[in-house]
Amino acid sequence: MRKDTPIPSEVVNKYAAQMGLENVGKASIREIKRLVDLVEAETGERYVRMEMGIPGLPASEIGVNAEKEALDKGIASLYPDIDGIPGLKKEISRFVKLFVGVDVDPRGCIPTVGSMQGSFATFMTVTRMDKNKDTILFLDPGFPVHKQQCRVQGTKFDSFDVYNYRGEKLREKLESHLAKGNVAALLYSNPNNPSWICFTETELKIIGELATKYGVVVIEDLAYFAMDFRQDLSKPGQPPYQPSVANYTENYVLLISSSKSFSYAGQRIGMMVISDTLFEKQARDLRPYYGMEQFGRAMVFGSIYALSAGTAHSPQIALEAMLKAVNDGEYDFVDVVKEYGEKAKIMKKIFTDNGFRIVYDKDEDKPLADGFYFTISYPGFSGAELIEALVYYGISAISLAITGSERLEGLRACVSLVSRDQFPDLEYRVKKFHEHHG
Ligand SMILES: Cc1ncc(COP(=O)(O)O)c(C=O)c1O
Repeated sequence: MRKDTPIPSEVVNKYAAQMGLENVGKASIREIKRLVDLVEAETGERYVRMEMGIPGLPASEIGVNAEKEALDKGIASLYPDIDGIPGLKKEISRFVKLFVGVDVDPRGCIPTVGSMQGSFATFMTVTRMDKNKDTILFLDPGFPVHKQQCRVQGTKFDSFDVYNYRGEKLREKLESHLAKGNVAALLYSNPNNPSWICFTETELKIIGELATKYGVVVIEDLAYFAMDFRQDLSKPGQPPYQPSVANYTENYVLLISSSKSFSYAGQRIGMMVISDTLFEKQARDLRPYYGMEQFGRAMVFGSIYALSAGTAHSPQIALEAMLKAVNDGEYDFVDVVKEYGEKAKIMKKIFTDNGFRIVYDKDEDKPLADGFYFTISYPGFSGAELIEALVYYGISAISLAITGSERLEGLRACVSLVSRDQFPDLEYRVKKFHEHHG
């Protein structure tokens, strides 16, 4: 073990041993967070913390003020409608029209307790529509909690890493999975957590066409809505729009989180948008679970009712106010979050100038966008080894291995909690690492 690392190795080793971590590289996100907290407290050295995907910006004031006012007026004592308050449903529908370019009736625009509840309820409902279709297919890499949701509800799932199947190659690979006939729905995030790849129109078209052909629901997770900063997706009603499978199939559920786009993670409110066709779809196998056969009604009065009987009232008021301002062109939410992309550009350069590689680096032939996450590797290191080594250099990240990625050499770095005044430290530490290992 080297002695001249930016963070004294004895301190890291002491706390790793105290926590019973035999292998720091294989520790969970929360364990790494704890280890780093302890080392920071003892050494006074601030880590470049890239392990957690949480917003690093203040919540939108429009939302906070609307929510406070509603609470003062006494809204806390009232149950909101299970499928959302009418004003919010209308604004979600407008938002989808103005920023995705598709028409969805407000009826299918449903607030959920974070996008996480939306995915949980969707997995539960779609896998009961047809008793032969009981599996969720994940286009990985992905957000590990989605698989955890399947595990805890006993839903089967399958997955593949799209790394080697970009562009037209996706068709054959995806069809080989869907042709098995057991897939109820497939899920991907776009832009993608953890790799920040964005599917191209060619790929979305393939996904949409195959979903229609095999009667599979596409769950499109837009947790990082409009955050592919290579295009200006910020103008309501003006193309380009947020790319979406909704242009290529009627079988979709969009999950739009407010956590990152509006920095509203703490209030746990997201949007579930069910296409008109899917909402009305009748599925006989739903009846034993829901006592009804229409998908949309089963979702609202079956799954969402059973889970939480709707979403907290005041965050709905907040989201309605934020969306209204955005839809009316009075609040540019994309401009606010662009900072993530600008930081990513600088941070990626610091790593690539010092021997690191970007693991997921292209969308077909286009360089990847700069955004909330990026992926890195260093020659000769596995992901686990790299995490462990970087801890001594005051840098923390997570391994791609937990995201279903086959790129076991890779790490995911999240830019949100790294402040610009840490860039000199980051540069110094990455340089030192390269000096010691290059
Ligand atoms: C891909 C992806 N989906 C869903 C979520 C969860 O969103 P929410 O906070 O709205 O539940 C996240 C949050 O990190 C995410 O990265």
